[in-house]
Amino acid sequence: MIVIGLMSGTSADGVDAAIVDIRGTGHRVAIKLLGHYGRSYPPQLQQKILHVAERGTVAEVCHLNTLLGEVFAKTVLAAMTRYGVRSQQVKLIGSHGQTIHHLPQPKAERGVGTITSTLQIGNPAVIAERTGITTVSDFRSRDMAAGGEGAPLVPYTHFLVFQNTKAMRWVVNLGGIANVTALPRSERLASVQAFDTGPCNMLLDALVTAETDGRNTIDRGGHLAQRGKVHSGLLRWLLAHPYLQRQPPKSTGRELFGETYVQKVLAQSRRRHLSLNDLLATSCQFIAQTIRDAQQWAKHVQGDVVCGGGGVRNARLWAELENIFDPIPVRTMEDCGSSSQAFEAQAFAVLAYQTVHGMCANVPRATGARHPVILGSVTPGIHGFVKQ
Ligand SMILES: Nc1ncnc2c1ncn2[C@@H]1O[C@H](COP(=O)(O)OP(=O)(O)O)[C@@H](O)[C@H]1O
Ligand SMILES: [Mg+2]
Repeated sequence: MIVIGLMSGTSADGVDAAIVDIRGTGHRVAIKLLGHYGRSYPPQLQQKILHVAERGTVAEVCHLNTLLGEVFAKTVLAAMTRYGVRSQQVKLIGSHGQTIHHLPQPKAERGVGTITSTLQIGNPAVIAERTGITTVSDFRSRDMAAGGEGAPLVPYTHFLVFQNTKAMRWVVNLGGIANVTALPRSERLASVQAFDTGPCNMLLDALVTAETDGRNTIDRGGHLAQRGKVHSGLLRWLLAHPYLQRQPPKSTGRELFGETYVQKVLAQSRRRHLSLNDLLATSCQFIAQTIRDAQQWAKHVQGDVVCGGGGVRNARLWAELENIFDPIPVRTMEDCGSSSQAFEAQAFAVLAYQTVHGMCANVPRATGARHPVILGSVTPGIHGFVKQ
C-alpha cells in the first residue's frame, strides 16, 4: 500500500511529506521510503502559526485550521507530481496536523474529574476533498482519552525501523522539542520507553529570531553557536527547569517552552551580558545535556545514539552531542539507512496504515495510556474509506 505521511512540527518551519510503501500485517510491517518532499512555510505563515499557538482567538484557530488543510493538500499533490505518483496509487494519507495546544497535565474540572487536552489542526476534510484520498488525522486524541499524554507517537515507528536484537539503541529526534526512544534488544513493543526530553530547535530558533529582530529565524548550520562560548552560570539556570526532573511519561511543547520561557532566558542572558553566539552555544550544550541526562530513566539502554530531525544540521549541537556521549558514537538516521528529515512524516504514514488495519499503534509505556488503542479519525476519500 502506498501511503503519504504529513508532518508539521512544533518548529512550524514547514511541512514534510513522505511517500511510503508499506506491506505486511501486525507489528511486522516492511516500510520503504519512496520519496520525501519538504515545503518550507513562508515567514508570514510561520508567524501566523506561532501567533495562533501562543494566543490565537477562536476565529484565528478556525481560519488556520482550513488554511493549513489547503496547504497540506497542496503539499501532497506537489509531492505526487515530484515523484510521478498518481492519486489512484495512493491509498491513504496520514496527517499529523499542526499542534496548536498540548495540555497533558491533568486539570480538575467540576463534575468530570480531571481533564487533559491536545489540539492538532489542518482540516482533514479539505485534504480528502482536494486529493480524493482517504485521510487519517487527529492521532493523539484517542491515546489521551485512554489516559495517555497523546505523545510521543513516533516511537512506534522507531521500534519498527531501528529495533535491533544485537544492539540497544537510543533514538533521538532533534525537532522543535527533543524526544528520545530507548530501544532494548527485546522485540517486545511493551519494553520500549520514550518521552520528550525538553526544548530543542524551538529554543534556538526563538533566540535567533528575537536577537536579530526577525531577520533570521534559524542559526543555519549552527555557525553562530560555533563562534560562541558556553556560560556555565546560564547553563546551570537552564538545567534547573522542573520539567527536566519530572519522571516519564512526559511530553511538552510551547505551553512550557514558548514565548514566556524564551523571554526569561533572554533576561538571564542579558544579566550576564552574553552575546547571541554565547547564548546559542550555551543552549546547544544545554540541549545535549538534557538528552544525555534523560538516560537516568532508561539506565539499562546504553546502546548507539541515532539522531534525526532538523537539529542534525546544526554543527554545534552535533558537536555537543558527540562530546557528551563520547565514547558512544552519535549517528544520523542516514547512517542507519533511514532519513532524518522524512522520518516523522513517514511515521504518520505508518500510523495511518495501522489505523485502517485496525491495529493499535500507541506505545502505552511511552504515553502513559491505560491500554493500547487504535489511533486517529478517518475521513473517507472519493472511493470510500480505503480504496481497494
Ligand atoms: N541547515 C540547518 N541548520 C541549522 N538548523 C537547522 C537547519 N535546518 C533545519 N534546522 C533546524 O531544524 C528545525 C526544524 O526541524 P524539524 O525536525 O522539522 O522540527 P519540527 O518537527 O519541530 O518541525 C528548524 O526550525 C531549525 O531550527
Ligand atoms: Mg518541521
